[in-house]
Amino acid sequence: MRPDTVLDQIFEKVDRIPNFPETAQRALRLLQDEEVDFRELEKVVRHDAAITANFLKLVNSAAFGLPRKVNTLLQAFSLLGINQIKFVLIASCLGQYLKEPIKGYNLSPQDIWMHSMACGLMAETLAHRAGLHRPENLYTAALLHDIGKIVLGLYVEGELEKLEETLEKNPELTFMQAEWLVLGADHAIVGAELLRRWEFPREVYFAVRAHHDESLMLQTHLAALTALANALVNLMGIGAGVDTFAYHLPEGLLEAAKVTEKDLYPAIVETFEKAEALKATLFA
Ligand SMILES: [Fe+2]
Ligand SMILES: [Fe+2]
Repeated sequence: MRPDTVLDQIFEKVDRIPNFPETAQRALRLLQDEEVDFRELEKVVRHDAAITANFLKLVNSAAFGLPRKVNTLLQAFSLLGINQIKFVLIASCLGQYLKEPIKGYNLSPQDIWMHSMACGLMAETLAHRAGLHRPENLYTAALLHDIGKIVLGLYVEGELEKLEETLEKNPELTFMQAEWLVLGADHAIVGAELLRRWEFPREVYFAVRAHHDESLMLQTHLAALTALANALVNLMGIGAGVDTFAYHLPEGLLEAAKVTEKDLYPAIVETFEKAEALKATLFA
């Protein structure tokens, strides 16, 4: 039977994307309860050796500011807040999706990994600076916002080179418009569809869908904060690919993200320092 939408056609060809780890999904469900029992959480997480190893490596980076080196998950949990545990947990799953370069976007695995991590750090820093209650799925949305690029990278490979060409010849296009012209879909829609298939909550895939859409990004706090964090990280040039400056931002984004102008500069400085610390831990 012929698939009937562009998305179906794309996903029909993409069988190389591993599912989001069930271990992480279970741990995130436990973490919805602020009073989570760390022993129970540890039992769930240690089930996955790769996540556990990544978690311990990441958490010992100066970016997370722990007072001492930790060797076990339980030690780490007891020193981190719930929000930091969620962040590190999702970040620990990210690496498995970022092993190969994404050619058409001119991104190495390190670029996109740093971009995704920096977006997560920026979202957290903005929320902290502005004294915000963290939206439930902030780290999932911020860390996974560009995951659609990986799907498109696998789907089209050779075709993706045409993106650069199209943007060069038509500088008035946004990157999303160029993606539509060349691929028939864009990385935000594809990323949202992947997260939907992985059974993330609706507000997560909405935020990912919205992260370059000037009107959608204003519709929820999570979407606005994710889009703002992404835009700032792009401006900082972290993990910059061909699409870095090829987007527009709407008026009202700061208000929708509940962030003020005075929060921006300190958030940029802090995110830069943390991103450098992470880079030193992971890519030295
Ligand atoms: Fe993006
Ligand atoms: Fe991005």
